[in-house]
Amino acid sequence: MPFQINSFEQYLSEYQKSIDQPENFWSGIAEHFTWKKKWDKVLEWNFKEPSVKWFQGGKLNITENCLDRHLMEKANDPAIIWEPNDPKEKNRILSYKELHGEVCRFVQVLKNNSVKKGDRICIYMPMVPELAVAVLACARMGAIHSVIFGGYSAQSIADRIEDASCSLVLTADGGNRGGKDILLKDTIDEALQKTGHVKKVIVLKRLGNKVNMVDGRDVWWHDEIKKVESQGLKDTTAEAMDAEDILFILYTSGSTGKPKGVVHTVAGYMIYTTYSFVNVFQYKPGQIYFCTADIGWITGHSYTVYGPLCAGATTLMFEGIPSWPDPGRFWDIVDKYKVNILYTAPTAIRSLMGFGTDPIKNKDLSSLRVLGTVGEPINEEAWHWYDEHIGKHKCPIVDTWWQTETGGIMISNLAGISKGKPSYATLPLPGVIPLLVDENGHPVPGSDAAKDGVFHKGASGPTVSGNLCIRFPWPSIIRTTYGDHERCRVNYFATYPGMYFTGDGALRDAEGNYRITGRVDDVLNVSGHRIGTAEVENAINMHPEVVESAVVGYPHDIKGQGIYAFVTLGKEGQEKGVKKESVVSEVVRVIGVIARPDKIQFVTGLPKTRSGKIMRRILRKIAEGEMENLGDISTLVDPAVVEEIKKGKV
Ligand code: PRX
Repeated sequence: MPFQINSFEQYLSEYQKSIDQPENFWSGIAEHFTWKKKWDKVLEWNFKEPSVKWFQGGKLNITENCLDRHLMEKANDPAIIWEPNDPKEKNRILSYKELHGEVCRFVQVLKNNSVKKGDRICIYMPMVPELAVAVLACARMGAIHSVIFGGYSAQSIADRIEDASCSLVLTADGGNRGGKDILLKDTIDEALQKTGHVKKVIVLKRLGNKVNMVDGRDVWWHDEIKKVESQGLKDTTAEAMDAEDILFILYTSGSTGKPKGVVHTVAGYMIYTTYSFVNVFQYKPGQIYFCTADIGWITGHSYTVYGPLCAGATTLMFEGIPSWPDPGRFWDIVDKYKVNILYTAPTAIRSLMGFGTDPIKNKDLSSLRVLGTVGEPINEEAWHWYDEHIGKHKCPIVDTWWQTETGGIMISNLAGISKGKPSYATLPLPGVIPLLVDENGHPVPGSDAAKDGVFHKGASGPTVSGNLCIRFPWPSIIRTTYGDHERCRVNYFATYPGMYFTGDGALRDAEGNYRITGRVDDVLNVSGHRIGTAEVENAINMHPEVVESAVVGYPHDIKGQGIYAFVTLGKEGQEKGVKKESVVSEVVRVIGVIARPDKIQFVTGLPKTRSGKIMRRILRKIAEGEMENLGDISTLVDPAVVEEIKKGKV
């Protein structure tokens, strides 16, 4: 494949070129894509505003790169293999030609429903091929998609619809996940009572359950497709998009307030996701690639849909969960489709590890060539289990570090090209310049991949640590937070001027490998999903009996981090005896099931300083089970409260 790195020496030389001459480097990669008009300027940037523009003047459509350009040679090759939740249901395979046809038809559906270029479209759908079709159809006509994961509540959906002023919602009557039916349309109905923006809802029939269809607002997907069939396909040309037009918004949690809409733009995102897909996984034509992430998350956007399809790969979409109908499901899928590349999350590996090796017996995993992980640090035990029982010591494991904001994989070994190291994401991809800074913002000596050398073979010496920053723009860097550019500046570019701050802490060993140690802000990583502690606190505080709360993370064997909430009740609540379950329900109502607290402890007060600041450090230690070295508690207004909290730990 073009721009595929074939050896470690080549990786080093490409890396060097990418930092010496980034514009030449990336324009060389961009040449391999289909453009309607070539760019005038490769890069213009400053991190102060911030403003980053790649390939200005260029015109293109990402779906021409995902679909049309494969129609000559790959028309009948499978683009998407879809495995349903219920293994007894028939699977579906869409060739590139079929997928192209479906996308073109759905573009016409959107246009028939008055969608125009630049409109924001909310997508709340199950993991079925129509979800990929929906995303691609938006991209093809220039509408901006905002996909919301099915685990978010009506309130979360309404907030996101308001924030982006979405005019149309794409949803389904429901979806299957494991043994459960998820009633998506009911949740949308509830959300739409909280916001007036949405004019139209297009509903896919998936479950066949009875749903409420609002006259004049709600239409069935299949009826709309029938209309297109009777109209005949009008114009299938993809919209000419500017390189820096918005491709999508994806909401993610931060340390303060409400979730922010991360904005990615067309050209840079396309180039970086494709480049990183091809290189990290070392994808070879004809291979079957299975990313287990839902399209509701960035991993699904970049590495289930856009990256693989741009590369002409076969991408496997799975509707269900790893443990249903039994914990051998992933391995059944690998066996059934002869999967070559498997990309999943440490939390899934840990939960499957818990079932032992019985579910793997009699499953043929010999097709596997490459394994990947994403979303959170992988502990050594899980890494070795994955290596031994799934990869049979024959498959490189790529530990890929990146974020919603980075659009694509930033630090990772390249499968079979650069070495993995358990619990290390290892080396930066070409074009990525990581460095670590100390508390005062000073670069930590020996931590800058470009200045200090990206790799020092066999070197031993001290491991350095600090806060992980990136000091040069890569093509798929976040452009803004939708509707609030200042928030983007403050969140990512103001902490350490001149650098993008990731919010993660990291170590760097003497050879140059980076190890991500976790968030240094108030963001939790629960089962590989980001959840802001402030967001959960806001939700808990909406409970009528709650006075205040403090949420911290604690180590969780399977989820990585669990959510621990310390909650104080008002007088009435104390007398009535509020149930913990009702606090949990409030969080589920406000945010969704993904933020469900694991532990609730009612306390009579929180440890606060005289200025009223909650001493989270103390709460974090208690939640972690550390009862002794709590540090100086003499500055607290009421040190006695700490004893009480220690005694009541759950
Ligand atoms: O803390 C890092 C962790 O996940 C965060 C990004 O979360 P999100 O935007 O939801 O994207 C997840 C999928 C890309 C990071 O700030 N993280 C992600 N990958 C890794 C990781 N931590 C350690 N190792 C990783 N491979």
